[in-house]
Amino acid sequence: QEPAAVGAGSVKQQLSKLVISSLRTTVPEVDVEPMVEVCTGKFGDYQCNNAMGLWSRVKGSGTSFKNPNAIGQAIAKNLPPSDIIESMSVAGPGFVNIVLSNSWVAKRIQDMLVNGIKTWAPILPVKKAVLDFSSPNIAKEMHVGHLRSTIIGDTLARMFEFSNVEVLRRNHVGDWGTQFGMLIQYLFEKFPNWEEIGTQAIGDLQTFYKASKHRFDGDPEFKDRAQQAVVRLQGGEGRYRAAWNKICEISRNEFDLVYKRLNVVLEEKGESFYNPYIPQVLEKLDNKGLIKESEGARVIFIEGHQIPLIVVKRDGGFNYASTDLTALWYRLNVEKAEWIIYVTDVGQQQHFDMFFSAARMAGWLPDPKEKKFPKTNHVGFGLVLGSDGKRFRTRSTEVVRLVELLDEAKSRSKSELLQRLTENGKIVDWTEGELEMTSEAVGYGAVKYADLKNNRLTNYTFNFEQMLSDKGNTAVYLQYAHARICSIIRKSNKDVEELKMSSAISLDHPDERVLGLYLIRFAEVVEEACTNLLPNVLCEYLYNLSEMFTKFYTNCQVVGSPEETSRLLLCQATAVVMRQCFELLGITPVYKL
Ligand code: ARG
Repeated sequence: QEPAAVGAGSVKQQLSKLVISSLRTTVPEVDVEPMVEVCTGKFGDYQCNNAMGLWSRVKGSGTSFKNPNAIGQAIAKNLPPSDIIESMSVAGPGFVNIVLSNSWVAKRIQDMLVNGIKTWAPILPVKKAVLDFSSPNIAKEMHVGHLRSTIIGDTLARMFEFSNVEVLRRNHVGDWGTQFGMLIQYLFEKFPNWEEIGTQAIGDLQTFYKASKHRFDGDPEFKDRAQQAVVRLQGGEGRYRAAWNKICEISRNEFDLVYKRLNVVLEEKGESFYNPYIPQVLEKLDNKGLIKESEGARVIFIEGHQIPLIVVKRDGGFNYASTDLTALWYRLNVEKAEWIIYVTDVGQQQHFDMFFSAARMAGWLPDPKEKKFPKTNHVGFGLVLGSDGKRFRTRSTEVVRLVELLDEAKSRSKSELLQRLTENGKIVDWTEGELEMTSEAVGYGAVKYADLKNNRLTNYTFNFEQMLSDKGNTAVYLQYAHARICSIIRKSNKDVEELKMSSAISLDHPDERVLGLYLIRFAEVVEEACTNLLPNVLCEYLYNLSEMFTKFYTNCQVVGSPEETSRLLLCQATAVVMRQCFELLGITPVYKL
């Protein structure tokens, strides 16, 4: 990884370093974290908020400071000299307002253009993370909840990867459990030649699941055979293993159609993978005295919860919780992940709370008051609703076929694009390949952005018209904004690749400065989105950036002005940052629309 010439880490991280050094001189007796934020008032760009908190800690202890303002003054005075800072002022109860140096901001932007946006990656406190997302269940429907998990999880993975964290993208598919006895037995009976036929011949697995369930519920002898099949599968009998494999293969092929359209990469490590490790992990928990007998089951009692966490069912079988405890143990001890993140609907929150608590009781996770890592997080999200305000379903069918949903997004975006191009008489400039590529990028991007722009905890309404509109905070609008910048640069007939090496950026106009400052906030926005696991923070940034660019472009003439080269470089920097935001959101940027 290339070191950045203008200092690594976000602006906030760089200012924090200066503040830490100042705090050590100012109040050597107290140990505090630096508090640096973007300035809320108009007297600075960033501010340091440590003084008030420090005052309450040192007053009455014989300190020579008279009030919080005096501490603020001292913090400002003791900041090591740096070319980041233009000037400082101390306000009210000790807020230190910091004005950044124009030339430093300009240099940082130029440096990014020359050395690549990777130099703006924030520094995160971990090296390796597990992201457990998507995770549908074999032979059951992959529903919009799994779509949300896929979209949110992929974005988080992309943001961590951009920030130089190694991410294990885990598809924790539900590929184990008693339902497989029923499925295998049904396969044997319905397709006696199942070993020879291809996966397509078996057809749709959801229908297959329903039919086998129907048989299971209606025929006690079949039920018996199905129950024996589970035992034989779990005993590792070859024929049963092979049938299980075949069923998983069919599901996998279906899931892959969705992942391919969304351009999402996942590594499958399903529930079955952890199954062999369960007994030894439960033994460790038992040795710590955590496992108790309750009504024939083996459970862990957890403070603050009415019901215990069941880890061995009454019939002796393992369950979702025993698998998740084992997977966590594996991720911590074998894979040595420092941060383990699970993306599912909020409905599963209690399950995660409980097994995280169990892991803490076992001493696997540190007391969060003492150490921050390793740690676990459940990234919950709300429901997807239809325009009727109920759970989202397409047409009258019971389930939404995700592939069809995505295909519809693409075809709708294609027809809108065609219509617009025809109206403008521009259709002749487009090849069929460009049309396809663009309608995919715009259509799938619209679905992703509509999901990601909301705080993930809220429910959101799935609406094609809204998400494909070119007005308001939509991916389509943002794609247009980005394509427009590309076209400004193209029409200037200047080679920005050459300009960025030969001419400098200046930020003398107030709207240039506002844009420049917002551009360099990119790293801390990614940092915040990662720290709080909130992709909408990045969406908000992308939208605001495009608004700020519009303001700049309205008030500052670019082509033909004396500042043309510097302003073209600002256009280019905005386009680069917007593209990186799109990348991180899993959206393919388009250069022409
Ligand atoms: N298969 C589960 C479901 O569809 C999600 C699994 C999430 N991951 C986990 N480690 N529990 O609801």
